[in-house]
Amino acid sequence: MALSLKSVDLSREKMAYLVIPVCEKADDAALAPPLAALVEKARTLNEFKGKKGDCVTFYEPEGLHAARVACSGLGEPDKLDRECLRTMAAGAVKSAMGKKLTTLHIVLPKIKTSPLKPDEILEAIAEGACLANHVFDKYKKEKNQTPLMQIILLATRGEVKKYQTLIDRIAVICEGTRMAREWVSTPSNEKAPGALAAEIASHAKKVGLSIEILTEKELKQKKFGALLAVSNGSDQKPCLVTLMHAPRGAKKTILLVGKGITFDSGGLNLKQGPNMDMMKMDMAGAAAVAATLITAARLRTKINLIGVMPLVENMPSGKACRPGDIIKSLDGKTIEIGNTDAEGRLILADALTWAIARFKPDITLDLATLTGACVAALGERIAGIFTTDDELADLLSTAGQKTHERCWPMPMPDDYREFMKSEVADIRNMSSTSYGGAITAALFLSEFTNNTRWAHIDIAGTAFLKNGGDYCPPGGSGYGVRLLTEAITAWTN
Ligand code: BES
Ligand code: ZN
Ligand code: ZN
Repeated sequence: MALSLKSVDLSREKMAYLVIPVCEKADDAALAPPLAALVEKARTLNEFKGKKGDCVTFYEPEGLHAARVACSGLGEPDKLDRECLRTMAAGAVKSAMGKKLTTLHIVLPKIKTSPLKPDEILEAIAEGACLANHVFDKYKKEKNQTPLMQIILLATRGEVKKYQTLIDRIAVICEGTRMAREWVSTPSNEKAPGALAAEIASHAKKVGLSIEILTEKELKQKKFGALLAVSNGSDQKPCLVTLMHAPRGAKKTILLVGKGITFDSGGLNLKQGPNMDMMKMDMAGAAAVAATLITAARLRTKINLIGVMPLVENMPSGKACRPGDIIKSLDGKTIEIGNTDAEGRLILADALTWAIARFKPDITLDLATLTGACVAALGERIAGIFTTDDELADLLSTAGQKTHERCWPMPMPDDYREFMKSEVADIRNMSSTSYGGAITAALFLSEFTNNTRWAHIDIAGTAFLKNGGDYCPPGGSGYGVRLLTEAITAWTN
């Protein structure tokens, strides 16, 4: 798929579908005359005021070589935000796909009184278009929608020159998001830990990342007791994937850790049907981390980045760990298993212990579909940020606002640690109260971060969109790739 920025002679360019973004009560003087004439005509219609979602289509209008031209409303210019632009562009792409077209042209609007800068407008439109241009139909014989081959943003010659690098960057980031989505949407029978590791490694290799995969045997030798306790019930062997991006001259190191449960049945504390339904998505943290590393390598990000992904399947069997079992984690703490369905924190405990000791990062961020409690607290569109580091909380929530991968800081009250106490072991993987489960899970993880700078992001609600979103097909959302890329960029600069 090609996203491009082009300056054309409007009287000559052949277009199957041209979309003109239009604001309410705005001045159209910046538009080329044949476009301005169309917008003026649209504004005379009762059904078109330029309000968000307003849309009129003209067929083969005069002065253009376009089969269809749509005016698409954005609302009032001074209230314009990035998300509204993404949604508008996504609508244009979906409508073009619905018409079985291969190419879409969108006019890059100049909106004078908008709070957004021209590059921000471009970025949001390009993102919305690129992210919406995705269908997950790998497993269907009959493909009823095909992504567009070309999305062309029409700009002036000056803009084409000025924004070329930005456009390429956006395309790479959106490809990263789509990659994560595909991994999350892939069914668990096709992404057992070994298979997923191989798939991630093949993409990582292409972009020059260093790859290290610890096998089950090595994990046993190194005593990853918590991770192995989860994996024991499954016939699929676990592994720990590490991707490394180490550009010359980089001084700081960011560690990213992603929960990679390739299927979460709950283990012996078997989940009920409806709760188990979507549990192929329980590796979305790992998918986001892998795709972020691949994206960073392609963008030549100037910082050391390490991505660590424990890949494990959580299944019940005669070998599965039981409630009441006491296991020994990699860092030596004993853990009483209160519930085998609280498995994410177990694999993350060992992964965090190992990666923090080995890479001595300046900061660590982990992404995990960790708790249903986080979904209850924040819903399906906002992730939870758990950290005692205000700077990291700010970094992430700011990145979330910009990318619309929203996340909200949650409390980490020290006194809640008492709920994770065990009578018989150093700590328990389940809380003694049924409330505040996202917080107690985060507090559990914090015990394995060795007092280093760390933030945990609970993406249980945001990782998977059963019904899809404005610019996301149903399935994996790719949540985290844009957020992390933005946060890394902001922290690096
Ligand atoms: N993978 C789940 C959390 C989850 C729930 C992700 C809903 C996405 C949507 C996690 O492993 C889990 O089962 N957590 C339990 C913890 C409990 C047993 C302490 C939960 O949230 O119920
Ligand atoms: Zn679980
Ligand atoms: Zn889980």
